Amino acid sequence: MDLSGKTAVVTGGSRGIGREICIELAKRGANVVLCARSAEGAAQETAALCEAARAESPAPAEGEPQNGQDPRTIVVACNVADAGDVKTLMETARRTFGRIDILVNNAGITKDGLLMRMKEEDFDAVINTNLKGAFLCMKEVSGVMMRQRYGRIVNISSVVGIHGNAGQMNYAASKAGVIGMTKSMARELGSRGITVNAVAPGFIDTDMTAALAPDTREKMAEQIPLKRIGTPQDVAKAVAFLASDEAAYITGQVLSVDGGMYT
Ligand code: NAI
Repeated sequence: MDLSGKTAVVTGGSRGIGREICIELAKRGANVVLCARSAEGAAQETAALCEAARAESPAPAEGEPQNGQDPRTIVVACNVADAGDVKTLMETARRTFGRIDILVNNAGITKDGLLMRMKEEDFDAVINTNLKGAFLCMKEVSGVMMRQRYGRIVNISSVVGIHGNAGQMNYAASKAGVIGMTKSMARELGSRGITVNAVAPGFIDTDMTAALAPDTREKMAEQIPLKRIGTPQDVAKAVAFLASDEAAYITGQVLSVDGGMYT
């Protein structure tokens, strides 16, 4: 899965799953445009990790920086729910590296609560980031990819979007919506050489799931056939595959990375 010469935009890349996706793509030779709410702190740490991973990996045959850009990881501050920010993000990516081959819609939030107690603003915030954010990014990138007649879009959904979860109605709706968008976009963009797939992680060890008590985590792990909670790397490797040329004939699919949780 050599990604040298490719340029990837990853949203929510500062920490957790997004960070590992950035590192995995960089390790395979891709230029990485890391979108984060803030361009400082964790985002800069991730950018440094990407450069280190790229330097350690075996030199790709055609891994020279495009347009003379070096380092080949850049950070752009962007709120994915804001159309103006997303436009700037994609313009910066294209100006810097000349093309955009891969888009990973990873940015996501939760604002959990039972329906009776769920505030309207919590519903809106989750839909705006998780669903509208992915829409805005795909809309902005699709023109570039169509002109290239090449593109790989990977949307991060969730097992919750497939199976639902009490207390996460807003999140489940957003992630189910991401699957619907993925399948529709696969049909719309397929004739232009663009694949669109989703990855549905199960229970992954990140800040998003850190609030759970240790005994709850243990019980959850016990119920997973592979008997462990997933790591961000588990998800990143699946994303790298779908972003690669090896996955050229796969589109409109949802790949669960959940340790067999819902088999
Ligand atoms: P996290 O909370 O550790 O990281 C989320 C990232 O998204 C952060 O970098 C955050 O700054 C960024 N982000 C949030 N709102 C944003 C916005 N409006 N604009 C730009 N960036 C924004 O979460 P984690 O666990 O790494 O999740 C990544 C993705 O994976 C999310 O879409 C999440 O829904 C999904 N997921 C996570 C699972 C888990 O168990 N951790 C399970 C299934 C799906």
